[in-house]
Amino acid sequence: MSVLLTGGTGFVGSHTAVELINAGYDVVIADNLSNSSADVVDRIGRITGVVPPLYVIDVADKTALNKLFDERSIDAVIHFAGYKAVGESVARPLMYYRNNLDTALSLLETMEEHGTRIFVFSSSATVYGDPETVPIDESSPAGSCSNPYGRTKYFVEKILSDAAAADPDLSVVLLRYFNPIGAHESGLIGELPSGIPNNLMACITQAAAGILEQLSIYGADYPTPDGTGVRDYIHVSDLAAGHVAALRYAQDHKGCEAVNLGAGRGFSVLEVVRAFEETTGVHVPRRFAPRRAGDIAMCYAGTEKALKVLGWRAEKSLEDMCRDAWRWQRNCGPGTDP
Ligand code: UD1
Repeated sequence: MSVLLTGGTGFVGSHTAVELINAGYDVVIADNLSNSSADVVDRIGRITGVVPPLYVIDVADKTALNKLFDERSIDAVIHFAGYKAVGESVARPLMYYRNNLDTALSLLETMEEHGTRIFVFSSSATVYGDPETVPIDESSPAGSCSNPYGRTKYFVEKILSDAAAADPDLSVVLLRYFNPIGAHESGLIGELPSGIPNNLMACITQAAAGILEQLSIYGADYPTPDGTGVRDYIHVSDLAAGHVAALRYAQDHKGCEAVNLGAGRGFSVLEVVRAFEETTGVHVPRRFAPRRAGDIAMCYAGTEKALKVLGWRAEKSLEDMCRDAWRWQRNCGPGTDP
């Protein structure tokens, strides 16, 4: 079975390519390399023994997509391509709406023309906004996102559920990610943030490596056990395995299902920093700073549906996530010359 990964050279896409190839799927990647590099396909090849074909195209470009679908017989699509920086989305909302909606629409139209009826979407727990209760299950209200990036995820979810309602042959799975961190245990693929990182683990590893002067801990006065923000961190390889499970599910079912991909428990910023230091033996210089605009206090996933519907759950520990993130940072991460 042949699976097109849009954004397949990115952080989650590349790890999913590895898991899919290991599970016996044929992977084709489409990526415009706007936030990743072409050598990721060789690294996927070093891990799996298979170098997936890479189409350097813009997924919003229907002419280029049509050519790809004409050349390859594509049975399913996993759509990762998209802009994902929250702050940038506030500053440049139109760019976010244009890109993230156009890519999804071009894909759906091209798939329809070529009879490809399986679509797995890289969505986000950000669609839940600030939750009233935790854990957050899939029936929690969605749509009150605090930024344009989150709204693009929510709007594409709606487009997909409307498309599935209109077409009984279409199978859609919306995967709502919590906080993916870590890296493949080989140290060959991982997260490569361009410029100054925003996400916690990238800031920790860069502070530990001396690239950032120190980690700023945004807020020590949240209503959480130690006052710092609590999130559901999930190892990116576990998350990738969740996509393989979603694809298997979509092969046997029609309609549209939203499923959380999280580990189902929350860790505070301080707990993550301490776990990193204990696992790696490396000190993380840090200071407390004011809360970051738009941040919520606490968020973690209800995971029952993922287990029931996909037969999947996260396996790796916070220590695994810290160890693998650090190995990646030292081997090939920002500031290294791999
Ligand atoms: C953020 C996005 C979310 C997106 C996700 C992708 C916001 C409001 N949300 O989630 O939409 O889907 O990234 O990965 O930006 N922290 C620090 N210092 C840092 C960085 C983070 O203390 O230098 C804290 C944050 O305040 C938060 C936690 O670490 O409590 C996790 O932050 P982050 O990794 O940025 O993820 P989210 O904010 O949960």
